[in-house]
Amino acid sequence: MSRCAVRLLFPTAVFLLPLAALAQQIRATPNGLTATEDGTTLEVTALQADKLRIREWRSAPPEDASWAVLPASRTSRATVAADVRGFHTDKLSVEISTGLHLIIRDHHGNVLQEDSTPVQWRGETFHIYKQRGENEHFFGLGDKPGPLDRAGQEFTMWNTDDFGWQESSDPIYKSIPFFMDVKDGRSFGILFDNTWRTSFDFGRESAQEYNFGSQGGPVDYYFLYGPEPKQVMASYAWLTGPAPLPPLWSFGFQQSRYTYSPASQLLDVAAHLRKDKIPADALWLDIDFQKNNMPFTVDPVGFPKFPELVQQLAKEHFHLIVIADTHIADKPNAGYVPYDSGTAGDHFLKNPDGTTYVGKVWPGDSVFPDYTQARTRKWFGTLYKDFVADGVSGFWDDMNEPAVFRYPSKTMPLDTQHRIDEPGFAKRTASHREVHNIYGLLNSQASYDGVLALRPNERPYVMTRATYAGGQRYAVTWTGDNSSTWNHMRMTTPQLINLGISGFSFAGADVGGFAGSPPADLLTKWLEIAAFQPIDRDHSAKGTRMHEPWVDGPEQEAIRKRFIEERYRLLPYMYTVAEETSRDGMPMMRPLFMEFPHATADGSPMDLVTGGAEFLLGSDLLIAPNPSPEEVAPYELHLPPGTWYDYWTGARAGTRSVVQTRDSEVRDSLLASQQTMLTPELAKVPVYARGGAILPLQPLVQNTDETPNGPLTLRVYVPSAGESCSGTVYSDDGHSLNYRKGDFFRMNASCSVSADGLLSVTLDPAEGRYKPWFKQLRIELVGSQRAPQRASIDGKEAALASTGAVPSITFDWNAKGSRITFQ
Ligand code: GLC
Repeated sequence: MSRCAVRLLFPTAVFLLPLAALAQQIRATPNGLTATEDGTTLEVTALQADKLRIREWRSAPPEDASWAVLPASRTSRATVAADVRGFHTDKLSVEISTGLHLIIRDHHGNVLQEDSTPVQWRGETFHIYKQRGENEHFFGLGDKPGPLDRAGQEFTMWNTDDFGWQESSDPIYKSIPFFMDVKDGRSFGILFDNTWRTSFDFGRESAQEYNFGSQGGPVDYYFLYGPEPKQVMASYAWLTGPAPLPPLWSFGFQQSRYTYSPASQLLDVAAHLRKDKIPADALWLDIDFQKNNMPFTVDPVGFPKFPELVQQLAKEHFHLIVIADTHIADKPNAGYVPYDSGTAGDHFLKNPDGTTYVGKVWPGDSVFPDYTQARTRKWFGTLYKDFVADGVSGFWDDMNEPAVFRYPSKTMPLDTQHRIDEPGFAKRTASHREVHNIYGLLNSQASYDGVLALRPNERPYVMTRATYAGGQRYAVTWTGDNSSTWNHMRMTTPQLINLGISGFSFAGADVGGFAGSPPADLLTKWLEIAAFQPIDRDHSAKGTRMHEPWVDGPEQEAIRKRFIEERYRLLPYMYTVAEETSRDGMPMMRPLFMEFPHATADGSPMDLVTGGAEFLLGSDLLIAPNPSPEEVAPYELHLPPGTWYDYWTGARAGTRSVVQTRDSEVRDSLLASQQTMLTPELAKVPVYARGGAILPLQPLVQNTDETPNGPLTLRVYVPSAGESCSGTVYSDDGHSLNYRKGDFFRMNASCSVSADGLLSVTLDPAEGRYKPWFKQLRIELVGSQRAPQRASIDGKEAALASTGAVPSITFDWNAKGSRITFQ
């Protein structure tokens, strides 16, 4: 519905009322205020000094409950000081003027967010309008394709099974109603916690405004102030929970297809990976391993000895993940336990007349678990019992938008009945209209909790296709049914960055593309880039050509293998970054502005210059794929301010420069000086390391079960004057939850360069009880201005080696901490 229609239909009547009727009553509360005007109430509550919750209602307050926000965060309260027309906290001030007009400012008086009109209602539908500045940009909103910056576009949140989606498709699989607003170098986040069909317009209807709204449910949103983007990420993790640390093996290479069947085909793939020494950790089984595509069954013909198969793969150090779609085949009297036990427990969704809803999916007629009942999620979780007993490592929750065939809507009728029976919620019946967007989230919660109950001290690994805000607490994700085209490969970068900003740090795209058959060069390039993305899973559709790394002959295979090997060398770094995510919500794959929010003169995100093609892995590695990957012409590299080194050669790439100046002339010249042209080559992906990074690397292994043979390398990228220098290495057993009880290893390292070029590295004492795999450390120096002649460890002379221009020392490491100097 367009806003013009709303304005004609409704507000004129309101604005014609006598002024007295509009008198506003403001009531201060210890943690905020409520303002009532003409029967509408606005409530602003400070959860913490930099986090507000905003609600509005017309008669009685709506139910106060959430599937996304953690109860402890939702009920957190900060003390506020009252002002004449609002209140302030230590970080923000809130003002309400006539018309329930809300303005949020920072402490310098900068307006961060201001209403442009009162909330526009039509029946149950409403829209919230905010003023938009010229230089205001928007990120997040989950997996939606298209440009990295959402400015100027509009979106709908309605989880949709969109096979073969394209760049302008919307909606697709997920509804994550969270966005980060970046304006003049200041950021804040908005979570619009409304599960109904919602919409977001970031200046498409009018360049001076943005709006978000819904077809029902509450006006309920959270304002998370930065001003730095990283603070917004930490706040979003505080609000909705960070993603738990996945098992180490899941950062290895994963091979999938719809479907490796029969079992011998899967074993052949496993054997081929090992024979060709392509490092790999996981294999996936899609729906044809099931009997007639019925979830929680195994095809007895193709997979007659399933437990033995899992064991065989485990012996070869492969983890097996199997698909477990959300629907249950409608098979009464057939000895099909999921159906029989689900029916006995009354766990399936109903039609308005009380009969069980039946829709067609892969197995034909199917029924659907009623996940808004806690007891139904618990029952669904028990269905994993046999697979868990067989040693299956992970589960793949698919078709959980929920997808239903043969309806143009691709899902079930909107009046399908869900029963809400859940602590913290009123017990009631809700329509599919309200529950649709959280169905995938609750499916993955059922799986996560169920698998955790069955293997209480192991990290569950669940991958979901559909989800909602907060779903990162239960599952990792992927971008669904993409296509084998150059453009789809290019789109994975902005999509995965926006997923990371939306809490889903652990995400990947089907490498090589799902629909269609990738030409050899495309598959190679995709495998190269994916080696630096959080989940590296090659997957393809039925009927397409095979796309395992070896399919195009030895030359292509050699390139692909080299990149997968590099991923395995980088695993200590990746895992360290992943652990950081699991604590503070910082995405693994980051836009440049997250680390360099002040890199441009006007405070606009520097990624607007790169078009979202470049990304950071953690804070120290920058990957710069060709923004027009099907073209051969040279393209521009944009490095953020500071020193950068070519990861592959160690050569200095960025110029020595002033970091983070707000002086526009300095910055412009600095940005100009950091521009280089790169010539695309099939066998190369440009990667850069930040000056001052200390990057942990390990000797090559074929899988994560294998103990690396040799020292852990800490590669120090020598900083320029004024730049900081630090790094961390984190380790644990890679699979259990013991790390939460102190069984982890973390070591921080730092370096400094003295005026006369003397470099010293300080290793802090190790934290945690876990004993890491390495006995020795190797410290490498990349970029030292003059070759060191001597090295010492805690004052004792140490042997200095050098490979090319990279001096190094290798020594027996002790956990107590050391100081290493190079002279
Ligand atoms: C869906 C999934 C895809 C899977 C297929 C068969 O299309 O997105 O990944 O291979 O179903 O299960």
